[in-house]
Amino acid sequence: MPSIEHIESLGANIRGGNAIARTRCLHPMVNSGTLNKYTHQDLTPVIGTEFERLQVTELLESDEQLIKDLAVTVSQRGVVFLRNQDVTPQQMKDLMERITRAAGSPESSGLHVHPLTEPGSELGDQISVISSEKQKKGGGLTHQLSDVSRFASAGWHADITFENCPSDYAMLKIHTLPETGGDTLWASGYEIYDRLSPKMREFLEGLTATHDAKFFLEEAERLGNPLRDGIRGSPLNYGSSLEAVHPVIRTNPVTGWKSVFVNKGFTKRINGVTRDESDLLLPYLINLVTQNHDAQVRFKWRKNDLAIWDNRSTWHCATYDYDAARAGDRVCSLGEAPYLDLKSSSRREALETH
Ligand code: SIN
Repeated sequence: MPSIEHIESLGANIRGGNAIARTRCLHPMVNSGTLNKYTHQDLTPVIGTEFERLQVTELLESDEQLIKDLAVTVSQRGVVFLRNQDVTPQQMKDLMERITRAAGSPESSGLHVHPLTEPGSELGDQISVISSEKQKKGGGLTHQLSDVSRFASAGWHADITFENCPSDYAMLKIHTLPETGGDTLWASGYEIYDRLSPKMREFLEGLTATHDAKFFLEEAERLGNPLRDGIRGSPLNYGSSLEAVHPVIRTNPVTGWKSVFVNKGFTKRINGVTRDESDLLLPYLINLVTQNHDAQVRFKWRKNDLAIWDNRSTWHCATYDYDAARAGDRVCSLGEAPYLDLKSSSRREALETH
């Protein structure tokens, strides 16, 4: 199993990363406050901010500073909700491109093509259709048909961490909804890091973990669809291994804050320790996410609401508590290959709220 020594080192304080996909955001970005004119509220102290009247179409017409401030707000608050959007999948992709670029994503990173995206997909390769109907047939983005836990908390994940160059941001619009149910929860990776003791932080900062989505190979085979094994939005993301090694603690370049970066959906093994030790550590970290509802926000969708989140520092979990159809469109941008800057700070340290 690879350990941290096997990951390319940029310098004494940097662990992980890859020269092909380095962030261009060399210092934490500062929010200049251009979004303050729009009515908004923080939904919990640590995660989630909702804007009532801000429209994606207005953002697309706005100058670079507003987009930068949106990127900083999403990265600091973890997830931002925009109500009642009149927006096409193409406009979602355009905004996603602008946000990721404004936040300093590497030149080599584009929008992700999910390995399960069907050829000739109606909305284009870079839109994943989130659909309860597909999910029931086993073509969804989480594995519901295989022999996995039926606990609702089994669904906590960050998107596509099985890629060498995973997602920085993601955007989801839900256009079809059951009368009630189908909420989505997000949790803050910064806050989970803040809940670790200094000794545990130091220990975890020396470790990597293996992320794996082999179950998509089975899904593709069962559905009779070819797996997308060409370039999936970054030269680092190709082939059918669907496996990547990332630091357990990662720095978000936009905020400069550290976050725990393992998740229930894709992380299979903490490396450099025994299997038994990994089997103790991984559930411990995942329980910190699932059992601390004060590190989470739960969003009740209304038709055409849209969420934008930072996949580097949050997890999310859908709720399958409904029978009627629920559907939407998701787009994921790719950021930098994950790295840890030992000199970066925790969120609470930076905000002095501990
Ligand atoms: C996702 O996991 O990206 C989709 C979440 C949802 O359907 O609420």
